[in-house]
Amino acid sequence: MNIIVVKDYDAMSKEAFKIMKAVVTDKKDAVLGLATGSTPIGLYKEMIADCKAGGASYKDVRAFNLDEYVGLDYSSDQSYVYFMRANLFDHIDIKLENTNIENGKAADAEAECARYNALLAANTIDLQILGIGSNGHIAFNEPGTPFASVTHVVDLTENTIKDNSRLFKSIDEVPRKAFTMGLSNIMAAKKIVIMANGANKAKAVYGLVRGEVTEDVPASILQNHADCTLICDEAAASLL
Ligand code: GLP
Repeated sequence: MNIIVVKDYDAMSKEAFKIMKAVVTDKKDAVLGLATGSTPIGLYKEMIADCKAGGASYKDVRAFNLDEYVGLDYSSDQSYVYFMRANLFDHIDIKLENTNIENGKAADAEAECARYNALLAANTIDLQILGIGSNGHIAFNEPGTPFASVTHVVDLTENTIKDNSRLFKSIDEVPRKAFTMGLSNIMAAKKIVIMANGANKAKAVYGLVRGEVTEDVPASILQNHADCTLICDEAAASLL
């Protein structure tokens, strides 16, 4: 794993953007794997500023998001589809029809997972962006998720519900289930950039980089990826 430790969140976002810009400049119709959460917002701001200034174009880029809460769709500002439009898609020249995410309101969850897996099988992700949960999860693959997993519905752990409740009016409003790409879908990406910032991620970052490769720490599977770069700030790197 390549490891880049930088001073702060801003520097982390700028480093990630350098890799993003190289990928979408080199391949106009690149396939991006995108993440939600506070971590990638700075990267998305860099992409927006650059695109608005006439830099990289996303008009032929396709995007696949990692995960979505079960029960939420664009009508909820807590949904990940809403997040992606508000924080990125509505501000760059990507075509909305080229963006993909699990449908949180799908009536048949199994059929929705099959639909998403078929799409992922037909589209190799050139660059996958990831954050990391404080318990070492990636996307919504919680500890114990099989490494061979594909898109599935998960029961979120209490830890994740608590972490994510800061974005909801109350903890009771946080959905208890989510759709998520599986770990094998994520590992199929050609290149992966995982970002982490803040002291509350230090333990997870240690598990990601130095810990045993184990399903108890989902992110540890990335040690087996041929082209994975961790970009983190000093606080998140403090246990390395
Ligand atoms: C959620 C998302 C993950 C994300 C994680 C960390 O659980 N499903 O994709 O990496 O939160 O979020 P944050 O970046 O806000 O710390």
